[in-house]
Amino acid sequence: MSVQTSCWLWLLLLTPNLASGFEGCQLGEAVRAFRPPADGSLCPPSESRCWHDGVVADGPGRGDAMVTVLWSDAEPMNRRVHGSYALRKSSATPCFSPSAMSEVGSCLDDGCWRYSDSCHDSIGGVLRAQGADGSTKHSSCRELGQSGYCSTAKVAKLCPESCGKCRPLRSCVNLKRMLPLFQRYAQWAWYSQWNQDSVLHLLLVNPDSALRTPAGSRFFVEFGFRPVKGRLGDESNSEYLRRLGWKGVRFDLDHEEPSVGLFRERITMENVVSVFRRHNVPQKPGIVMIDIDSCDLWVFLGLTEVFRPRVVQIEYNRHLRFADNLTLDCRAGGKPGTTDSELYGASIHAIAAAAEARGYAVAWVERCFDVFLVRSDLVCPGSKLPNLDAFKSFTLHDGGCLDPWGEFASPATAQERQSVFLDLSSTPTSLRKGDR
Ligand SMILES: *[C@@H]1O[C@H](CO)[C@@H](O)[C@H](O)[C@H]1NC(C)=O
Repeated sequence: MSVQTSCWLWLLLLTPNLASGFEGCQLGEAVRAFRPPADGSLCPPSESRCWHDGVVADGPGRGDAMVTVLWSDAEPMNRRVHGSYALRKSSATPCFSPSAMSEVGSCLDDGCWRYSDSCHDSIGGVLRAQGADGSTKHSSCRELGQSGYCSTAKVAKLCPESCGKCRPLRSCVNLKRMLPLFQRYAQWAWYSQWNQDSVLHLLLVNPDSALRTPAGSRFFVEFGFRPVKGRLGDESNSEYLRRLGWKGVRFDLDHEEPSVGLFRERITMENVVSVFRRHNVPQKPGIVMIDIDSCDLWVFLGLTEVFRPRVVQIEYNRHLRFADNLTLDCRAGGKPGTTDSELYGASIHAIAAAAEARGYAVAWVERCFDVFLVRSDLVCPGSKLPNLDAFKSFTLHDGGCLDPWGEFASPATAQERQSVFLDLSSTPTSLRKGDR
């Protein structure tokens, strides 16, 4: 794709005394973005048919030159704009270009210039410095900060992180306020299995909504990690956080690669605490992601007797109805299920009940996949969701989780279901600490 340079006058000059640049796209900003046709045919950027309406749903933290646009024409397969261009709708000025600057390396595009300063939710700004001898050079926020440009208002504004001007993130999260944000923007992914990246972004990264994670808690634990190589690297629900500087460990039944923090472990309700201790997981990790397709709820109960993660992501069973309050019965060595059948895991309400018993609140449900829980002391007073009605249709049988690929498990009989699931509503079951 070639773009006339004259269209891109945004490469503004930065003289030793004068700083300039352009501001990146902001979350939620309405843009016209370049998108080549799905059939792969050429579409010259000079033609208006190559540009479409969308809204920016992205944030900083990736080491590549990309912006994520939710298209107003609602083609879900086109959620990601790679190496493309976005113009602010209000002013038709560019707010993203693939030649923006990267500080992180691993750029995919030619030249790949991008700066991102990860404490404000914009990407793609460009700064260009002009040396005393008249030559110009792209500069990263870090370089500009180190060269003393933070005293310039423009640089201070475009590079808040490098200039030490990050706004503090929130010390509690308002779940009622978050709900419409999730509904609107939690629709994209770079590394995660489905849209989990965008949930983590809103919950832990985006400066306008996110919960501050203290440095000692920037630690993730992911289990049920399969090393699948996606287009951008590991396909993993914790990869986005890892690229933002979080540390962590990943566990899997079958795979091991200690050099990258992936260990082979079979995790159960009984051993989860000792496994975490053996791997030096902090007592209050930022997030624990549980996806083992079986006794997930019980592992959560075992874990939270000792460890108090700030956020927990836990897979639910999409084959159970929204109204169900069911979990696989894993007490006393109950038989773990498998995803080849529908007999695994727990329903949304069962997970919510376990969460409540252990001092957690439901923040969001990633349709068909995971329930996101936040520790109750981190939820702003009075802001818990009054009920889970927003997720009413998020199961196969309630219509919100269809299977166009025919990959879901085959149905089990009512009798089979009854023999493996425990109904929390009708069987007195204490989920409280120390009571099992
Ligand atoms: C599910 O069961 C738990 C434990 O008995 C109970 O506290 C909770 O209210 C139930 N939830 C629903 C939606 O019935």
